[in-house]
Amino acid sequence: MTANRRLPTADCRLSTILVTGGCGFIGTNLVRYLFSKGYKIRVLDNLSTGKKENLLTADYQLPTADLIVGDIRDRDVVEKAVEDIDAAIHLAAHTSVVESLDNPEEDWNINVTGTLNLLEACCLKGVKKFIFASSNAVLGEQPPPVDEMKIPKPLSPYGASKLACEALCSAYYHSFGLNTISLRFANCYGPYSEHKASVIARFMDWARQGKPLIIYGDGKQTRDFIHVDDVCQAIHLCLTAADSIAGKIFQIASGVETNIDELAKMIKEIIERNVPTIYEPKRKGEIERNYSDITKARRVLGFKPKVTLKQGLHDLWERYTVQD
Ligand SMILES: NC(=O)c1ccc[n+]([C@@H]2O[C@H](COP(=O)([O-])OP(=O)(O)OC[C@H]3O[C@@H](n4cnc5c(N)ncnc54)[C@H](O)[C@@H]3O)[C@@H](O)[C@H]2O)c1
Repeated sequence: MTANRRLPTADCRLSTILVTGGCGFIGTNLVRYLFSKGYKIRVLDNLSTGKKENLLTADYQLPTADLIVGDIRDRDVVEKAVEDIDAAIHLAAHTSVVESLDNPEEDWNINVTGTLNLLEACCLKGVKKFIFASSNAVLGEQPPPVDEMKIPKPLSPYGASKLACEALCSAYYHSFGLNTISLRFANCYGPYSEHKASVIARFMDWARQGKPLIIYGDGKQTRDFIHVDDVCQAIHLCLTAADSIAGKIFQIASGVETNIDELAKMIKEIIERNVPTIYEPKRKGEIERNYSDITKARRVLGFKPKVTLKQGLHDLWERYTVQD
């Protein structure tokens, strides 16, 4: 697959976008966001955790022809998916830290081989921009706030696989001129996240069922929660940014540190139900304290998180109460 790589053309107008993992949590929100901005979208997803129905709702319907059901580990499928697109936003991944400890090889194959396939196909087809969904998990335990200058020390196979993907993105930019950007997302939350094992998705689910909120650890561990609309904003800023950001990495987060006890308290206040909290032992591979310094994303991309945690949780709960 190395012979016919094409360098991107001078035309920078990006109109047709491939979203891998477009049926998942962030993807479902992103597809709608980009559609509202006038982009034409194609989705590649193997539906392992994502749902086709997420893109076939009353408020939005992706044309069936624009959904390719296939696996990013399959080179033929990937080459077909990048045909005639201007930019790729690569979200498809094995996303569970805990499961990556049980099966590091599968995590590596999906995340790293899948990303390599996409980078290679994008080079072959002259795709102009490649935006990669990385994670704060690449950094591991660091004195917060974390920024792009910290030396990554992943704690989990998932974090290691994302770091390897960042390295591939850097290599494909420097070796082949593919305009790659890696975005290290903090903990995202928002609509269409019901299938996720992330803390806000779980707390909301348990709260809906009137079950206790389970905290792994002492509740003093911290995270940086970013609403998915702000993640979409960051991705869109990258799509429209000048080529000078090629090869760069950005922390994409709220920049606010919240501990899990505070989060549980906030949720209980919003839902107006007094569900109990249960503490269980801390899980392996999970970071103790984490929040990001987003100065670089603010300065270079003009990124400005808009949704406060309180507002985002309130909107999510309201959405659930309408559904229930
Ligand atoms: N949600 C977060 O808090 C968060 C934080 C940091 C980074 N990220 C990254 O953002 C991206 C999107 O995460 P998400 O939360 O939407 O996860 P998700 O599991 O909801 O979505 C992932 C999507 O990828 C698809 N997929 C998985 N394996 C595939 C494969 N082999 N081939 C094709 N499609 C495949 C799934 O079906 C799903 O639709 C991931 O790369 C994840 O690592 C997410």
